[in-house]
Amino acid sequence: MNGSVNIYDQEYKSRSATEDWMMPSENLVRALKLCGLNRPLKNNSKALDFGCGDGRHSEWLIKEGFGVCSTDVSAEAVKASRIRLDSLGLLSKADLRQIENIQEISYFKKEFDLIVAWELLHWLGTKQKWQSFFDEALKNLFLEGAIVFTMPTENHFLLPNAKLVNKCYVINDQVNFFDKSEKTQEVSLYAPPLQKMKNYFKSLGLKQLYLARFEHGREGSKASLEVRSGYYVFVLCKA
Ligand SMILES: C[S@@+](CC[C@H](N)C(=O)[O-])C[C@H]1O[C@@H](n2cnc3c(N)ncnc32)[C@H](O)[C@@H]1O
Repeated sequence: MNGSVNIYDQEYKSRSATEDWMMPSENLVRALKLCGLNRPLKNNSKALDFGCGDGRHSEWLIKEGFGVCSTDVSAEAVKASRIRLDSLGLLSKADLRQIENIQEISYFKKEFDLIVAWELLHWLGTKQKWQSFFDEALKNLFLEGAIVFTMPTENHFLLPNAKLVNKCYVINDQVNFFDKSEKTQEVSLYAPPLQKMKNYFKSLGLKQLYLARFEHGREGSKASLEVRSGYYVFVLCKA
């Protein structure tokens, strides 16, 4: 398995509530509002927060009126999301589950109106897993449902430290970024160029909206992680 699970287990064990992760991403909120997708369009609408982390978007989606299924590969992330939603009295609106593979979302036996995959698809690590995400997401999406997600730009803050091996970016100082123990570990990221992604989405016969490229801030900038990241935002609709 991609080493990201260890990294994030460590991260969520030690993370204290920081501004970066307390609020929903303003780019996600803006993108969904622009597309008129931030509110449920019918009763009992369900959203999937795939790679939910510690639950900031699960919280926001519930407050907007969705029932939410939240998953993450990291058990610590799912635990942190559960604690967050419970403390806000929102747990009854959520179904949370740690999953290893995207195929396991069939556990929810739901057709989703919205799938959110924010700041994580690059962690899937291989082209095959990345494509499987879209296959499974589409299988579990209502007609006219939407997937909103980010993918790193070539300036994403992780990529300058990576080398390309078999068409994947491999990073080996990742652990130092999150974990003060100075261990190093290899993690692969899969982040295809923009045009390749657009061609692939076109081949799936979807209504595709590419919203924006958000550039990372200056080197050493104190801006939030979100601002420093450098990513593209996509919305795909099942037509
Ligand atoms: C940068 S965090 C983003 C968390 C959340 N989406 C947010 O925006 O707050 C990346 C998340 O992706 C999760 N992740 C990494 N690889 C994954 C995989 N293969 N399947 C599901 N989640 C994964 C990590 O555990 C982590 O919680």
